[in-house]
Amino acid sequence: MIEKISGIRGMNDLLPEELKLWSFVERKIISLFNSYGYEEIRTPILENTSLFQRGIGEVTDIVEKEMYSFTDNLNGNSYTLRPENTASVMRSNIEHHLTYNGPRKLWYFGPMFRHERPQQGRYRQFYQFGIEAIGYVGFEIEAEQLFMISKLWSLLGLSKSWKPKLYLNCLGTLEERSSFRKALIDFFSIYKDVLDKDSLSRLERNPLRILDSKNQKIKDLISEAPEINQFMGKESLKNFSNLCNLLEERSIPYELNSSLVRGLDYYNSTVFEWVTPFLGSQEAVCGGGRYDHLVEMLGGKPNGACGFAIGMERLVSLLKKANVLKVGSCLDLYIVHIGSFAKIKGLLFSELLRAVGISVKVDMTDASIKSQMKKAGLSTARFVAIFSKEYLDEDAVVIRPIHAPNSVKDEKIGFRTGQEKIKLNNVIKYLQSELSQKEISK
Ligand code: HAM
Repeated sequence: MIEKISGIRGMNDLLPEELKLWSFVERKIISLFNSYGYEEIRTPILENTSLFQRGIGEVTDIVEKEMYSFTDNLNGNSYTLRPENTASVMRSNIEHHLTYNGPRKLWYFGPMFRHERPQQGRYRQFYQFGIEAIGYVGFEIEAEQLFMISKLWSLLGLSKSWKPKLYLNCLGTLEERSSFRKALIDFFSIYKDVLDKDSLSRLERNPLRILDSKNQKIKDLISEAPEINQFMGKESLKNFSNLCNLLEERSIPYELNSSLVRGLDYYNSTVFEWVTPFLGSQEAVCGGGRYDHLVEMLGGKPNGACGFAIGMERLVSLLKKANVLKVGSCLDLYIVHIGSFAKIKGLLFSELLRAVGISVKVDMTDASIKSQMKKAGLSTARFVAIFSKEYLDEDAVVIRPIHAPNSVKDEKIGFRTGQEKIKLNNVIKYLQSELSQKEISK
């Protein structure tokens, strides 16, 4: 027997059942993003490696250990599968002068790739929904983004106890950060013997990264370390407190976390993470913040920006745990038939239905009517139409609701009651009127 080829660890197939749940979530997110004036952008999944080295920062976990990079045999260039999309969107923004006529609000959805140790909620290919607002300075846009995320949890049906919790920090301006950096080097240098290998290597190159450590000994040390707010000037403090005030005005709970530095180096000023206790150790569902210097670092004109990304796998997992996912019926009609004449009639009639926007699946088998009906029952269709010579001779078909509104399940036949004989020339009108009723969940 020929050996089977399996998928790559940490890279998941998304099967139709799962994708029905994803589509429900995707539709809600996209309509929310659109309602705030964000426009979609799509960039390639492959970029020059230098984009991420420069954008995300050389001394970060992502760039040091997690990138899928390879050298192109033809031209010797190094390419990388995008580990995130902010750098790519900024590259595209510079290349296409997207902010030439003023600020732009952009959103994206797609796969990202990080060579991490796979576990529940942490994958090597995972999907992000993200937002980048380019050309915006000030706390107002940050507040609007946080309002939007908070609204998303409600739109998805999460009750108060299930909503992710918002953690906020301010990293200050570049100058403030540089004083903070120096203070951290001074502080941690005293405890070199306590620092682990990773932290030691970061001490001089990127001491802020030490604050990200998961090592309990280092965490204890961090609680004694200097905090960024000791180095923040008037302007930074005022902006941050304005943002906090707006959150309070909208009754959005938050907690300040001075060791929240995020795993990417492009941030300054406000950074945030939405965290849930329901997903084990992979607790961040969404993360983002302001990154005013990234455009400049990538060769563009200085332009303030801020954004965030939501991890789809983690979000869907949370929604499943909270039991709030509803899958609407995706198919309007399933056509079954008795005999080949009826099958062809059904096939031709389905074209007329699709032409007016009714979605139809025709059973293409020659199986018994019982087995076709069983398949119709297992489908997501709201109605089944039975094409048989007996009724076609009267120019009619029989239509039964399956997952239709207000239909009652008949336990004996496993179907819903309420079958009707409908004349062929009335079928479209009948279905259109029935389908216009409120979409129900299965
Ligand atoms: P990030 O915090 O690296 O930020 O990722 C955002 C979200 O993606 C995380 O909160 C998490 O839900 C999800 N995520 C990250 N890594 C994995 C993984 N290995 N498996 C599953 N889910 C994962 C960024 O990527 C920034 N680009 C966000 C941003 C946009 N900042 C400004 N604009």
